[in-house]
Amino acid sequence: MAIPKRVEEAMNHQLGFEFHSAYVYLGMSAYCEAQSLPGFATWLRAQYQEELEHAVKFYSFILDRGGRVTLDAIEKPPTDYKSPLAVFEAALANEESVTAAIDDLYTLTGEERDYASQAFLNWFVTEQVEEEKIVGDVVDSLRRVGEKGEALFLLDRELGNRSG
Ligand code: FEO
Repeated sequence: MAIPKRVEEAMNHQLGFEFHSAYVYLGMSAYCEAQSLPGFATWLRAQYQEELEHAVKFYSFILDRGGRVTLDAIEKPPTDYKSPLAVFEAALANEESVTAAIDDLYTLTGEERDYASQAFLNWFVTEQVEEEKIVGDVVDSLRRVGEKGEALFLLDRELGNRSG
């Protein structure tokens, strides 16, 4: 079955949202570099890479279903924040918006009886649980250690060891 028009449009929109999320994380990474927090910067850059992979998954899926990729403009992201905590609070809010968008897309595929798209989206539904958890954990850590001093330095080191 060809991809339904409404699903194709929504998938294109989500493709743009994932690229936007990538760009937001890159802006956050640049901010942390400027704050001499290389571990946070590395962590956020890994997250940027993940978002690019998410975007490309949508890109490939739309094409695999015989759809058309349209590529929306990507909005300029912030590159300045009040603090590392503000960065991760913004990241969590962004992930929650992504989750809501994936859920809406999932609902739409049900309405359209587009089960191939639903199966594809299952991966994203699970992934968003993970994304919200890992970003939420950093928010919790930052609230615990505060914004300065030795504890922040150690957290920066710990985040810099992220693999994948
Ligand atoms: Fe692609 Fe972090 O959601």
